Amino acid sequence: MCGIIGYIGKKNVDSVLIVGLEKLEYRGYDSAGIAILSDNGIYLKKKKGRISDLAQALNGTPLKARVGIGHTRWATHGKPNDINAHPHIDCKKNFAVVHNGVIENFERIRKNLIKKGHRFLSETDTEIIPHLLEENYKGDLLSAVLKVIKELKGSFALAIISKYHPDKIIGVRKGSPLVIGVGEKENLLASDIPAILSHTRKIISMHDGEIAVIEKEKVKVYNFSGKEKRKKVRYVDWEEDMIEKSGYAHFMLKEIHEQPRVIEENLERIILNGKISIQNNEFLKLFEDKTHIIFQAAGTSFHATLYAKYIFEKYLKLFIESDLSSEFRYREPLIARNSIMIAVSQSGETADTLEGIRLAKRKKIPVISLVNVKGSTIDRESNHTIYINAGPEIGVASTKAYTAQLLYLLLLCMLLSHKKRKVTKKFIKDTLKELFTLPDKIRYILGKEEEIAGIARKYYTFNNALFLGRGLNYVTALEGALKLKEISYIHATGYAAGEMKHGPIALIDENWPVVNICTKNYLYPKMISNIMEVKARDGIIIAVTNPPVAGLKEIADEIISIPKTSLILEPILTIIPLQLLAYHIALLRGCDVDKPRNLAKSVTVE
Ligand code: AGP
Repeated sequence: MCGIIGYIGKKNVDSVLIVGLEKLEYRGYDSAGIAILSDNGIYLKKKKGRISDLAQALNGTPLKARVGIGHTRWATHGKPNDINAHPHIDCKKNFAVVHNGVIENFERIRKNLIKKGHRFLSETDTEIIPHLLEENYKGDLLSAVLKVIKELKGSFALAIISKYHPDKIIGVRKGSPLVIGVGEKENLLASDIPAILSHTRKIISMHDGEIAVIEKEKVKVYNFSGKEKRKKVRYVDWEEDMIEKSGYAHFMLKEIHEQPRVIEENLERIILNGKISIQNNEFLKLFEDKTHIIFQAAGTSFHATLYAKYIFEKYLKLFIESDLSSEFRYREPLIARNSIMIAVSQSGETADTLEGIRLAKRKKIPVISLVNVKGSTIDRESNHTIYINAGPEIGVASTKAYTAQLLYLLLLCMLLSHKKRKVTKKFIKDTLKELFTLPDKIRYILGKEEEIAGIARKYYTFNNALFLGRGLNYVTALEGALKLKEISYIHATGYAAGEMKHGPIALIDENWPVVNICTKNYLYPKMISNIMEVKARDGIIIAVTNPPVAGLKEIADEIISIPKTSLILEPILTIIPLQLLAYHIALLRGCDVDKPRNLAKSVTVE
C-alpha cells in the first residue's frame, strides 16, 4: 500500500505535496518523492527514508511551481532506495508518474520497451508507465493515458503529469483507492481523504475504471473508454484526525478491521491455480537436508512461532524449536549442524531478534525471516525474507500482522510438507479451500463487535484476567492475554489449561474473569473439565467457542461463538474476538489504545 497525491492550483506545490504525503505516511513510509512542473520542465526529488528526509532534501530549493505529484512508498517491487522511490519518469523526462498498486504483467512490457531502446533506472513495476506514455503520446495526454492503461494488468491508482501539459494532472483508478478534492481555483488527487482535507472538504470519490483530468478550475471524469461521467461532489465532515484512520477511532481498530482484506489480498497474491507460490518458492532450497528448524521472535511474533512449532512438528516431522529472542541469544544454544532459522518480526527491527539472527549466522546457519517492513534491518540481514504484506501497522498492539504471520507460517508449512511428501494433495487442496473462507468468517466475527463491547462493559473494571487454552488454543490464550495486558494494563495471563492444577487455580475466585478458548476440537472435553474447575471456585467464565453452544450455556457467563474452521486455521479466527475484547476494555479504562504507556511499536534496544 502506498500513498499518492497530486495538486494543481494557486499554492506553492512543494509544501502542499509534503504536508499531504505526511497525512498519507500511514500507508507506507520506506521512501518518498515529488515531481513538480516548473518553467524548465519536470523537477524530480526522491529519497529512501521518511517524508521528513525528503522535506530536508528539498530545503532551500525554491520551487515556484503550482503543479505536482507526490508519493510515499510501501515497497512491493524493488527494495526501498532513492532510485526505486516514486515518481518515475520516461527517457526524456516528459512524463512523471506515481503509482499505488501492483502491475502484474510489467516484466513482459519492460522487456519490449527495452528492445525499443528505452532505458530503465529502477527495479519497479511502475517505471514502465512513463515509458509507455513516451511510446503512445501523439499530442493528447488523455488519449495517451487511455491507450497505456489498456496494456496494464493488475491494480493501479496513478497520478500523471507531463511537460507538454502544465495545466493538468491525470488520475487513474483501478483496484487502488483515489479521491479528488475540489477546491477554489485549486484541485487535488490523493489515495485518501486526509491529504486533501486541509484544502477542501468537497470530495469526488473515484471508482475503479475511471480516469480524471484535473485542471486548476475544472475536473472531468471519464471511463476507460473515454466516455465522460457525471460525478457527485460530496462534503466530508470528519474531523481531520479521524480521517487518517479512515473513520475508525484508533489505528488498532482500523487494523483489526483490515484483517479480512489483508488475508484476501495475500491469498490472491500467493495462491495461483491451487498452487502456493511465495516469491516463486526459490527459497525452499534452503530447507533441503535440514532436520531442525529454530524459530525465534519476541512478543506477538513469538506467539506466531509457537503456532508454527505445533503445525511444523505435526506435518513436517522435523525437530522444531521456538524460542524467545531475548532468551535464545544469551542461552549459548546448542544448534544442530543441519538447522535452519526462521525469525519472525513485524517491524524487522527488534534488537533481540536481530541478534538471534546474527548468532545463527555466526554458526553458519541459514536464516529465513518473516517481516512486514521491507528494507528493515532483519530483512537486509537474512538469507531470504518472506514479506507478510499486511501494510503499515501503526497501532502498538499487533493485530493484522499477527494473523498475516499465522497465514504465511501455515502456507510455508504446507509448501514444505507437500515438497517432503508428508501430506496428501487432497489435504493441501482442502486446506487452501478452507483458507479462502476465512476473510468472510473474520467479517462475521467483526460483525459481533457490539456484542463483544457489551462483554467489555461488564468486566473492564476487573484488574486480573486469565486466558486458558489447550493445543493451538493455548497459543491464542497467550496472544489474547498479551493484547489485553499491553493496552489496558490489566494483569492478564495466558496459561495452558492443563496447567491449572499446577498453580493458577489457586488464584481463582469471583474476582477473576477467565477467558476459555474452547473450540470444538479433540481437546474440547478436557477444556470443559478445566472450565468446571474454574466454575467450582466462582471464577467468571468467558468462552470463545463455535456452534453448537448449548452445552456451554449452563456453565459459561459469556459465550462468544465464532464460525467453525479446520483445526490448523482456528488460531486465525479465535484471536479476532480477543483483539476486540482487549480494544474495548482498554477504551473503557481510558487507556491510550494506539500508544500504550511504556511501549513502542518496535523495540530496537535490548
Ligand atoms: C505485540 O502486540 C507487541 N507490540 C509486541 O509484543 C511485539 O509483538 C514485539 O515487540 C515484537 O515486535 P516485532 O514483531 O516487530 O519484532
